[in-house]
Amino acid sequence: MNLLIVGGGGREHAIIRALKKNPEVELVYALPGNAGIGQMAECHPIPATDIDAIVDFAKSHKIDFAVVAQDDPLALGCVDRLNELGIPCFGPDAKAAQIEASKIFSKNLMKKYGIPTAAYETFSDCEKAVDYLKTASYPIVLKADGLALGKGVVICQNFSEAETEIREMMLGGKFGKSGANVVIEEFLEGPEVTVLSFTDGKTVVPMVSSMDHKRALDGDKGLNTGGMGVIAPNPLYTPEIAERCMKEIFVPTIEAMRKEGRPFKGCLYFGLMLTKNGPKVIEYNCRFGDPEAQAVLPLLKSDLFNIMRAVETETLSPSMVEFEKASTCCVMIASGGYPEKYQKGFAIDFGASEETAFVYHSGTKLNDEGKFVTNGGRVLGVVAKADTLENAISKSYFAANQITFEGKHMRTDIGQRALKGE
Ligand code: AMP
Ligand code: GLY
Repeated sequence: MNLLIVGGGGREHAIIRALKKNPEVELVYALPGNAGIGQMAECHPIPATDIDAIVDFAKSHKIDFAVVAQDDPLALGCVDRLNELGIPCFGPDAKAAQIEASKIFSKNLMKKYGIPTAAYETFSDCEKAVDYLKTASYPIVLKADGLALGKGVVICQNFSEAETEIREMMLGGKFGKSGANVVIEEFLEGPEVTVLSFTDGKTVVPMVSSMDHKRALDGDKGLNTGGMGVIAPNPLYTPEIAERCMKEIFVPTIEAMRKEGRPFKGCLYFGLMLTKNGPKVIEYNCRFGDPEAQAVLPLLKSDLFNIMRAVETETLSPSMVEFEKASTCCVMIASGGYPEKYQKGFAIDFGASEETAFVYHSGTKLNDEGKFVTNGGRVLGVVAKADTLENAISKSYFAANQITFEGKHMRTDIGQRALKGE
């Protein structure tokens, strides 16, 4: 079988590695992929957002199955277009991808179907938003409606901060068109949990939980990033909480999407906050998280390709999805300066890291001499698996410490709060 993967980060690297465990998978094409993915798939430099070029590529390469792993091609209807060619896909169509692509859509969905989330208002007129902010209670959360590389959320401590921010978002083009409309929502408190799930639009099967670390610096300081590290499972996500989430959030969301005529097929990402009033939805994503996928997929005992085909044919059942009783830790290694300005092109020395951990590539390329160099803000995700969380953390740091390049930056405290039960 020939598979096509749309995307080119650590998440796609982890998906391809898991898919290749199935002996039916012969050739994997990645668009655009990256240098690490190039060691296990054939990469072609077609941007994941160039849907016409992806469709042309699929037509000329006898693709049996496609996995669209990244948010923007999903929102742009990549799955719809590949399905028109008769190519089965893992991933939602454009209508279902709205659950991530528009925060206004997802908030209204939750309100309509009684799914627990932060109270909110939506605005398309900046002055009306400013008026609302004058009498709001603080801190408050401002969210750009559209996709913004995980950076479209700003927490403001007082009116003056919020006024500056809302004007930059709605009028100043801080997040491009994505910020023209906004959600203003109640600030919630509590630990965060990510639960990825497989769903065929009727059945939803949660994967092991995880905990992302979004801030750039130790102690959850610094700017929000795409994610600096993950541990799985998340020890705060107890079986009792899991049961409650299934009943109050996961099943109602799948049913809501079906009732709206937007059945969701693929991986639905639940970003949850465990508040003192129970678990609430912070965000939905229409795809695997990055770097959550790098920590969660290595724990999957079942065959990923079989699960993906069952999702596509709407024959998913819980017994198809089994996870190991072990823990993983993914430490992201980034370029100095990320998520703001950073330089690329530095040679990477992997040391002996790959003897004790798996190193997923996020932003790397090969230079003219065929050597790996840095090529992005997030560069590598170092993942180790062990019997306990504590051992997984020390094993992944043991490997991550051996990797060097100019400007290397990583957090040193991934998993520490989870270990302490905070
Ligand atoms: P999002 O992109 O929606 O996941 O938001 C990014 C981060 O902002 C989340 O992981 C939370 O840490 C934080 N956040 C988002 N919404 C809220 C909220 N209503 N209350 C408190 N923190 C929030
Ligand atoms: N790690 C957060 C995300 O993938 O959106």
